[in-house]
Amino acid sequence: MDMPTSQTRFDPATAEVALRGLRAPRKTLPPHLLYDPEGCRLFDAITTLPEYYVTRTELGLLRDIGPELRARIGPGAAVVEYGAGSVTKAALLLAALEQPRAYVPLDIAAGAVAATVAAMQSRFPALALHPIVGDFQQPLALPPLPRPLLGFFPGSTIGNLDREAALRFLRTARATLGEGARFLLGVDLPKSPEILIPAYDDAAGVTAAFNLNLLHRLNREAAASFQPGHFRHRAIWNAEDSRIEMHLESQVAQSVAVAGVPIAFGAGETIHTESSYKRRPEDMIALASEAGWRSEAVWTDAGDLFSLHLLA
Ligand code: AVJ
Repeated sequence: MDMPTSQTRFDPATAEVALRGLRAPRKTLPPHLLYDPEGCRLFDAITTLPEYYVTRTELGLLRDIGPELRARIGPGAAVVEYGAGSVTKAALLLAALEQPRAYVPLDIAAGAVAATVAAMQSRFPALALHPIVGDFQQPLALPPLPRPLLGFFPGSTIGNLDREAALRFLRTARATLGEGARFLLGVDLPKSPEILIPAYDDAAGVTAAFNLNLLHRLNREAAASFQPGHFRHRAIWNAEDSRIEMHLESQVAQSVAVAGVPIAFGAGETIHTESSYKRRPEDMIALASEAGWRSEAVWTDAGDLFSLHLLA
């Protein structure tokens, strides 16, 4: 049993969101629930796994295109980062640019934004910092910022969004950033399941722990009675939809209470907890252009694993 503490209180909003997904004929849970403090710690561990090529490849690509990016963006830029979770990437981008003047980390998690600001302050003392705590899926009012303006959304986090949600996100970003802004977007590429599956089901079991942590979280925050040992992590390549899916598979027929509501599981039934879409450059460009963005440049690494898009 997880002991209730001040950080592990029942949260009606979490319980409601969980119940909505678990009462559906095909059980789902929204991926944002994966990122409680323990989930964030496990995700950080994922980014350095040998099988998880994503973070390492994007960092290498960002390093490689630094000079070209510097030339294309020009001096004095303001960088607005969507989901301020990756100080390393933002620092790499800011170091590549010519005398960037402002940095705006934008995240729903106040703690993440504060940590990012503290780290950036010491690394770039001349940079104006404007942290914003808010939901970037909603249009936001930015403070007055120097130009040029560069949005930054690394990590292929856009891969969590299906086509409709990605379109909505890109349109909202255009409205928030305004006329003349550009956007640097990290997008994971489709590739062989022999590379993809281990990246989402690693030998050390970190991704499994990351996925199963969701059940521990719901036990605390949604007054649930999951026995995590009765579920198994599964990573599935859905070729038709070009996405990796994470599921939690019930190993037995069982009933689990969630906030007092019994949820029945058949043996082998799964909860779909995350999708990670992999988009070819031409498909991403088509999606971006439908949302009003023009493709200025696309870079991929030598192994064709990952891409960075510069949109205007
Ligand atoms: C943070 C959504 C980009 O999809 O690769 C990593 C999350 N899930 N391993 C991804 C994740 C399992 C990650 N994103």
